[in-house]
Amino acid sequence: MQRTRVNDAIKSQSFGEKFLLKGWVRTRRGNKNVSFIALNDGSAIDNIQIVVDNEKFGEDFLKPITTGAAIAVEGILVKSQGKGQTVEIQADKIDIYGTADPDTYPLQKKGHTLEFLREIAHLRPRTNTFGAIFRIRHNMAIAIHTFFHQKGFYYFHTPIITSSDCEGAGQMFQVTTLDLNNLEKNNGTIDYSNDFFGASTALTVSGQLEGELGAMALGGIYTFGPTFRAENSNTPRHLAEFWMIEPEVAFIEIDENMTLAQEFIQFCVCWALENCTADLNFLAQMYDNELIDRLKFVTENDFVRLSYSKGVEILENAVENGKKFEYPVVWGTDLQSEHERYLVEEHFKKPVILTDYPKEIKSFYMKQNDDGKTVRAMDVLFPKIGEIIGGSQREEDFEKLKLRAEEMHIPQKDIWWYMDTRRFGTAPHSGFGLGFERLLLFVTGMTNIRDVIPFPRTPKNAIF
Ligand code: 4AD
Ligand code: MG
Repeated sequence: MQRTRVNDAIKSQSFGEKFLLKGWVRTRRGNKNVSFIALNDGSAIDNIQIVVDNEKFGEDFLKPITTGAAIAVEGILVKSQGKGQTVEIQADKIDIYGTADPDTYPLQKKGHTLEFLREIAHLRPRTNTFGAIFRIRHNMAIAIHTFFHQKGFYYFHTPIITSSDCEGAGQMFQVTTLDLNNLEKNNGTIDYSNDFFGASTALTVSGQLEGELGAMALGGIYTFGPTFRAENSNTPRHLAEFWMIEPEVAFIEIDENMTLAQEFIQFCVCWALENCTADLNFLAQMYDNELIDRLKFVTENDFVRLSYSKGVEILENAVENGKKFEYPVVWGTDLQSEHERYLVEEHFKKPVILTDYPKEIKSFYMKQNDDGKTVRAMDVLFPKIGEIIGGSQREEDFEKLKLRAEEMHIPQKDIWWYMDTRRFGTAPHSGFGLGFERLLLFVTGMTNIRDVIPFPRTPKNAIF
């Protein structure tokens, strides 16, 4: 007999027909005569109710069917007389695949804190909350590929092992096969010519530089892959391993780039509202009853576009009028998350795209403005999250880019291949990077980034 997924069975109208279901027991309750098993197989937030005639199966047989056990059930689908479900299965046959000793199985019926569940990340996908989050995570990945595919962009695979530090922030995890207990040195420095790649390499912090190579041939590309940053920031918004989506587009300038970013996020949020309704409603009800309104709001309103300098002015005015920030607001320094959130949540009450940042705080590849002070950067700032996207128009002028790389101590010998795009057939182009987990924070309403990726990597933590 073919197995039916719970999600299909609970929607089925085939009353009186036989079904085979397989899943994990969420709860078993009942009385002397009947047992009710709530069975979940991960296909939906909802369980299916299995009605069991105790006499038919016997107490000894039913005893090991406790929370967490894996079972197969054959039975007839009927309309449910009870509250809370429309259909149920009247069990004819039950097979027990694996039991879960109630004395040691950590996921019992009572609600567990998110902190506790992080410590058992190997089991937490079996909870309602994480089932919902990971189904939404999957749906967002599909939304992203759909969006770009429909727009004629190509999914371009950039390397994970690289020798270039795209963002220049020096936060790279080294990759080596050298024996760390026995390093050969030449005049005090390590000789990488004997290393696997014959050079010092690391895990990528961004696929952008290689993405630009793709865009300058295919027109529009996007990357979607893991990204690694050894920044020691133990915050609810940073991971050492996160996923990033980086579109890169030839022949567009900063304004079109901003429009693309807005359309992209709105498409993904609409997708979630349409395709993840039950999971979103569950999360809204459990954690955040404003979630759905916040999602709808973002799909219905344009993002505010504002220069960094104007943003700083607004923040300075706020400080003059008594607003207290932990960090000072100074033109020329990076905005803190509290500043970004003030602009978004209190001042504009809308997502904001800040542009034209001081060149000192941005990467070497950004297009320089004529004022000599700012670059055509754009950060998209979101309620509760702060920065969700970072991007820019790229400097397409060979000489200007070369000078800026030199000023920032990036040797030409490391980026000659990147410089070649400006040497041969250069053109205006732009792109950005969306942090996948930051998007998921927004869509799920979760407040800690460790709760939207199955197995988070953070400082001092790489278990599972
Ligand atoms: O602003 P970032 O550093 O930009 C880049 O890497 C560019 N190369 C992107 C581009 O133009 N193609 O990072 C982009 C986004 C951030 O806005 C944030 O959403 C996310 O990546 N991000 C992180 N997410 C989780 N944990 C971290 N440690 C993150 N660092 C950045
Ligand atoms: Mg950034």
